[in-house]
Amino acid sequence: MNTVRPLIVQEVCLRDGLQIEPVFVATADKIRLADAFSALGFARIEVSSFVSPKAVPALADAAEVFAGMQRAPGTVYVALVPNLKGAERALAAGAGELNLVMSAGQTHNLANMRMTTDESFEGFARIAALPRGNVLLNGSVATAFGCPFEGAQPVAKVLDLVRRYLDLGCTGITLADTTGMANPRQVAALVEQALPLVGADALTLHFHNTRGLGLANVVAAYDAGAQRFDAALGGLGGCPFAPGASGNICTEDLVAMCEEMGIPTGLDLPALIALSRGLPALVGHETAGQVAKAGRVADLHPAPPGLRAA
Ligand code: COA
Ligand code: ZN
Repeated sequence: MNTVRPLIVQEVCLRDGLQIEPVFVATADKIRLADAFSALGFARIEVSSFVSPKAVPALADAAEVFAGMQRAPGTVYVALVPNLKGAERALAAGAGELNLVMSAGQTHNLANMRMTTDESFEGFARIAALPRGNVLLNGSVATAFGCPFEGAQPVAKVLDLVRRYLDLGCTGITLADTTGMANPRQVAALVEQALPLVGADALTLHFHNTRGLGLANVVAAYDAGAQRFDAALGGLGGCPFAPGASGNICTEDLVAMCEEMGIPTGLDLPALIALSRGLPALVGHETAGQVAKAGRVADLHPAPPGLRAA
């Protein structure tokens, strides 16, 4: 019997989801959300960013969230890190994985990190040399499917960045479509070329739904052999330093699609929907998630009264 490969959902709402929000979500609410994600059994939860609080005020409480949350055995608690100072702060806070981030597009890297890509890697080399016990290193290539300033990024350049991360000792690689420029055929082609370098257990795809192709890109990547995907509850998210950025693919919409397609995720959809329905009260606006509004496919409606017999 063929067993269907599971799809692993990594929850990034607390980091990517909140980084672009103009309101500061209270630290206690972030901790409650982190604990709810842990209880749901996510394999990975990106908790926050150790970036400049001037650059991203919404995540200025990263250390407090790490200190206040409960940790579930078996869950990796991830911290986004742009530079050496961020890595030192993240290690002091007890992050389980440092997610190093730079962009394939030089212009986006300068806008986002105020560094060239080479300067980013100089910093990453210093981070990789830090004593870190069993803390994991993941390397993210942002704008891997297109830069909002420069357009398409050559596949060879993206794969070269992947190799540079692997040479530093990264055990995970993320290919990120920061501003939703990817399409399913492009995704399948890049995943096919990345998998021989990285391996399915180490490769993450990070999609934004900016142009409505987020879940189509997931299916293309999964069918090409990928299995790990970042998603944000409610479809919150976006890079504050990319024009027109908008939300990540939505966790509960992704899980609902997988349920309908018979792909196991191990996640409890009704519980995710209930949690997502609490987000507008935290961020002050409706979210992009669709299943939380429409209900599951299985949530049927009573027939209107007074119908004639069929
Ligand atoms: N955490 C906290 N503070 C930091 C920091 C970090 N990781 N890195 C630098 N700083 C502080 C410095 O100590 C300095 O503080 P001071 O003004 O009080 O002296 C100030 O920030 C400027 O330092 P500098 O090294 O010159 O940084 P910069 O101004 O060139 O900014 C980054 C570089 C990377 C810190 C900044 O661009 C950044 O945080 N970018 C992240 C953007 C982001 O999160 N995007 C979305 C996720 S992809
Ligand atoms: Zn993102």
